[in-house]
Amino acid sequence: MQIPFLNLKAVNQPYEKEFKLQFDSFLSSGYYILGKSVTAFEKEFAAYCGVTNCIGTGNGLDALTLIFKGYIELGDLSKGDCVYIAANTYIATIIAVQNAGLIPVLVDADYNTFNLDVNLLPKKPTAKIKAVMATHLYGQLANMNKLRAYCNQHNLLLLSDAAQAHGAKNNGKAGGLADAAGFSFYPTKNLGALGDGGCVTTNNNKLAEVIQKLRNYGKASSTENDYIGINSRLDEIQATFLSVKLKKLDQDNNKRIAIANKYLTEIVNPKVILPKIELSLSHVFHQFVVKVDNQQDFINYLNSNGIGNLIHYPIPPHKQKAYKGYFKNEFAVTEKLAKQVVSIPINPILKKNEVNYIIEKINNY
Ligand SMILES: Cc1ncc(COP(=O)(O)O)c(C=O)c1O
Repeated sequence: MQIPFLNLKAVNQPYEKEFKLQFDSFLSSGYYILGKSVTAFEKEFAAYCGVTNCIGTGNGLDALTLIFKGYIELGDLSKGDCVYIAANTYIATIIAVQNAGLIPVLVDADYNTFNLDVNLLPKKPTAKIKAVMATHLYGQLANMNKLRAYCNQHNLLLLSDAAQAHGAKNNGKAGGLADAAGFSFYPTKNLGALGDGGCVTTNNNKLAEVIQKLRNYGKASSTENDYIGINSRLDEIQATFLSVKLKKLDQDNNKRIAIANKYLTEIVNPKVILPKIELSLSHVFHQFVVKVDNQQDFINYLNSNGIGNLIHYPIPPHKQKAYKGYFKNEFAVTEKLAKQVVSIPINPILKKNEVNYIIEKINNY
């Protein structure tokens, strides 16, 4: 059997009919940029996340960058301020901090949850630290209760990179648990467009107003500019597709969770360490990530059995050429994880016999 890691055409196939109707209506509307569809999706996604504001952006990286730029314009952050970030996040979180003129300070990951290890946060952060941006890696919420307590205690902003966690919920949903959150709608995400897209969600109306301007050259009106902004607008056509898929997001996430539960109960192999799920932290399984001692051997085995797989991520940001000499510390857990993690297929269209096949082959490894 051949099971691709992710077949995006097949993932989107159930929506094709409605996408075509939406495209026809888009074509006849004559509005291509920041029209009714973006506004409609922003309202729908804000309601879904339980926040007052959603601002569509061109991609997830810009959404994260605009959060920081927005707080700078409001005077809540200043250039040169520092932000705690998990060392094993996707590189975009770190780039976003720097795009806004801030300084990323990495904190190692927790080996079990893959998220920022809250216990490693200094008892007394330096005066330069002004925010924590927690990534909900692989779809699992970071420990927002503990992070909120820490941020309140030290008067820091609590932000989240929710690019992998659309719909994850625990006393509120991803996007509504932080002071502001950034999402990506990159096609592979749990809520994926047919191109680039992203958004910021926040209950801070002032921040939302600034970001709404910043994403569009800082425009206050057709002739006035309040800020030196960027051009990063959610595409009108992508917004129509996202509105269609948002209606099925919970259903799609539940399919991922059901597959994950089957993997968690039926994969039994001492050579394969399953992810430890803390029940208090919701998980929408953007990825199902196992750990093995011999990563390449396991990958060869999966490949020889036709099971698609990927490593998220083989080179941590601080080991990338781009950051040579930038980060001084070592991050032992992050480095160990990079050598051990392997993502196996998980998506809403995976068939029962494919899931059973994956379980059987991994148990025979
Ligand atoms: C954790 C994380 N943050 C940020 C991003 C950036 O999103 P985008 O590719 O839409 O810019 C991604 C996705 O690629 C991501 O996985």
